[in-house]
Amino acid sequence: MPVLHAAYVQTNPSYLAVESNLQAAESQISSLDADLIVFPELFTSGYFFQSVEHLAQAAEPIPGGPSTRALKSWATSLDATIVAGLAERAGERFYNSAVLVRPDGTIDTYRKVHLFYEEKTLFEPGDLGFPVFDLETSDGTSYRLGIMVCFDWYFPEAARTLALKGADVIAHPSNLVLPHCPESMPVRARENHVFTITANRYGEEHKEGEALTFIGTSEICDPSGTIREQAERTGHEVGLVAIDPQEARDRRINTHNDVLEDRRPDTYRSRMTGGSAAKNTAQRSATTS
Ligand code: ACM
Repeated sequence: MPVLHAAYVQTNPSYLAVESNLQAAESQISSLDADLIVFPELFTSGYFFQSVEHLAQAAEPIPGGPSTRALKSWATSLDATIVAGLAERAGERFYNSAVLVRPDGTIDTYRKVHLFYEEKTLFEPGDLGFPVFDLETSDGTSYRLGIMVCFDWYFPEAARTLALKGADVIAHPSNLVLPHCPESMPVRARENHVFTITANRYGEEHKEGEALTFIGTSEICDPSGTIREQAERTGHEVGLVAIDPQEARDRRINTHNDVLEDRRPDTYRSRMTGGSAAKNTAQRSATTS
């Protein structure tokens, strides 16, 4: 059976302490024997930026910054592909990105599409779509990896788009604060017939008297929606599961139904979309009341 050893790493980074966060992360994986390792969102900087100046201090170009350099050396020495969340600086702009680093040192990037809460005041929304990458383990197991970041889970279209583009496995670096993701990802996995690897952080961060608590509970789900491995709400943890990415390829539910082929996109279109639909409904009820 083709095997992919897939892992999440649950961390608790210290705010803006990039160097010591990198050291802590390295010590968590130094003896890990995995083909694919997923770290949380913003894993070297922390999450709750107190100002744009703080974000500018932590953000780095991809490639070329200290975090990408470290990830490259870990990927090479462990012979593993690594996906990790970083604050990306691109000229004057900042993106909440996830970097994919292969054992040969080649790099790709995903920029978070659905920004959460005050991220909207700091980052640009992602402009690279939802990428899927063809990868291979050193033992010759090939698989297709999609990436989404944290709050993207709230939008079923994100995982669906990755599945439609052929992803077998979705890497999901996260800094979850809302409580419902750990029970929603098994649904994302089942409805798209993919493996999902959510790597979350734990701990708390503060800004002007407001606290954000990160909920840990990192997890790996399989295409049946079963949670194969799950971390506690707090604590450094590494979860490792041997999966067969081929399991994701047959998307038939029974002899008559296929999760993706049975979709009916022609029936899904609303006449109006998003905010304009809501606004028009409000206008209609105002004029008819
Ligand atoms: C989140 O998207 N970090 C909640």
